[in-house]
Formats: sequence, C-alpha cells, structure tokens
Amino acid sequence: MLVAGGAGYIGSHTVRLLQEHAVPVVVLDNFSTGHRAAVRAPCVEADLADSEPLRLVFREHRPKAVIHFAAKCYVGESVVEPAKYYRENVVHSWNLLEAMRAADCEQIVFSSTCATYGVPREIPIEEGHPQAPISPYGRTKLAIEYMLEDYSRAYGLRFSALRYFNAAGAASDASLGEHHEPETHLIPLMLRVASGRSEEILIFGDDYETRDGTCVRDYIHVEDLADAHLRALRLLEAGRQQVVCNLGTGRGYSVREVLDVARRVTGHPIPARVVARREGDPAELVSGGRRATELLGWTPRRSELEQIVRDAWNFQCAHPDGFPT
Ligand code: UFG
Repeated sequence: MLVAGGAGYIGSHTVRLLQEHAVPVVVLDNFSTGHRAAVRAPCVEADLADSEPLRLVFREHRPKAVIHFAAKCYVGESVVEPAKYYRENVVHSWNLLEAMRAADCEQIVFSSTCATYGVPREIPIEEGHPQAPISPYGRTKLAIEYMLEDYSRAYGLRFSALRYFNAAGAASDASLGEHHEPETHLIPLMLRVASGRSEEILIFGDDYETRDGTCVRDYIHVEDLADAHLRALRLLEAGRQQVVCNLGTGRGYSVREVLDVARRVTGHPIPARVVARREGDPAELVSGGRRATELLGWTPRRSELEQIVRDAWNFQCAHPDGFPT
C-alpha cells in the first residue's frame, strides 16, 4: 500500500491503523507539511511533482493500491494563490494517476472534502447534493474527483472519494495529532489558548442564521476517518468500481458550542472575542445521508464532540510544541 501524504494529520493516523491491520505500507511524502516523527513506516521522501522518483517507487514496491492524502488544504490561501492549489492538488494528482497507470496499479482512495459542495442548498448535505465549490481549494478537489471518474470509465481505475467534513481530534493514546503551521482550525486554536500559548480565540462572526449566530460544523474524529479509509480500501479490493461518500456524524455544533466544550474539557476560561466573518465560510456544514454506513459499514465511534476535544487536548498537553521540525 502506498500512502501519499502519509506523514500528515489524517495520513499518519491512517498509516497507523493500516499497520495495526498488518497492511504493508510505504509512505511517500515531501514533508512540506507532514512530520517525520508522525510516521513509523518505510518512507520515501519525494514530491508528486517529480515523475521519476514516483516511477521508481511503483517499480520497487509494486503497491496494489494508493491512498492519496497529499494536498494543500487552506481555503483562504487557495483564494490568494490558486496557481499553487492547481499545481499541488490537480497537476500532482494527475502525476500520481499516471504513475499508477504505468504500473498497472488500479485502486485509489482519495481525500475529498465537503468544500466541493460549496454553499449548501439544504442541510444536511447528502452525497447527491450539487457540487458547486466556492473556493479554488474546493474546485481543485472536485477537479480531481472528475479525473478519477474519467480514469475509472476509460482505464478501469477503481476509486473511492471520501468527502470529509471537519476532521478533528487526535490518536486516543495522544501519540499522534494535529500540527499545522500556521494553524487555522478552530479546535487546536482554542486549545492553544487553554495551554497559554495565545491570549484569546477569535470568533469569526456571530450574525449567521444559526441557533446562536456562529457557524455550525460537523466535527469528525480523525481515527474514525482513518477507519473509513481502511473500509473503502477493502471494498475496492473486493472489486467495487466506485465508492463516493461523505464522512461526517450528521450532527453540527456551533463555534460557541465547541468553545463551551473546550472550556469544560480544559478547565480554562478560553477568552473569546467576536470579530468579522471570515470570507468564504458557509453558515452551516453538516453531513447527511447513510451512504458511508450502508456502503462501508462505517459508523463514527469516537466522534462525540467532548471525546474529540479531550483527545486533541491530551495530544496538545503531551506535545506542547507539536512534532519536532
Ligand atoms: N473559526 C473561528 N475562529 C477561528 C477559526 C475558525 O471562529 O480562529 C470558525 C470558522 O469560521 C468556522 C469554524 O470555526 O466556522 C470551523 O473552522 P475551521 O477553520 O476549523 O474549519 P473549516 O470549517 O473552515 O474547514 C472545513 C474543512 C475543510 C474544508 C472547509 C470548507 O476542515 O477541509 O471546511 O469550507 F475545506
């Protein structure tokens, strides 16, 4: 199994789970945002931009399948630097697919996102909801979904596109977790305040049409996400052509509700200040549909918000500076 981007946040948790299930893993990562200390598997340091090392990896390891996490994932940055996102996400995914095609590797599990839906017409968002992304980030992910569909039709590629909602939490033993630089995600930023590394959390807008005016999101535990990848892989191995599904809990929490939980879990008052809306934030993103349960037999097990925040907090306490760089 080749895991591209296996040193990143969701990638490293998935690699760990694959190893626990005795799946032989090779990680390919350029370590631009991933962390060496987050992987205990054979690693190839390479960039998906470079075809030759990719070709060699396939020749040497002959993976039967690929899980593809390697991507840029900042919505705001993608608006300012779309070229980077089209290159790193779309062009590099194309390179990966071409290397797979040359090596007759026919199965891929791809990290997609709820950002491919854009501003939802209805909540909860089912898989059949129109995909009309509003950011270059979401558009690049949708472009890759199209590429997978077309390769599947023309070349027999079997693929899974897993549309994550808000990935959060950390490994239950606190050995792995979220470490982004810069960090932009709500839960780790709140926990930075609780650990004294910043002064306050900014709430981006409290005038949305939601129950308390702050944005509502569907937070899904990173270990539950990892589990879904393993299940998607098994389905592809069993011969299924396409597995496209949302990964969320179906339950949304507002920013203020998350803050209440974070205050309770950490015992810290976590001062908060309301500021202007962040551009491109839809009011509410909550996953609907039962496709992941029906297709994958998947149900989130660790995604109660309190558990998510507790695991993220344990990671933060165990690794106050994140992974060594
Ligand atoms: N938020 C704050 N203050 C902060 C950080 C975030 O109020 O300091 C709010 C945001 O406005 C948002 C919520 O907290 O309403 C969650 O924000 P995150 O940045 O943690 O996550 P996003 O909802 O922006 O990101 C998610 C997925 C992405 C996806 C994106 C699409 O994690 O993969 O939705 O909009 F691309």
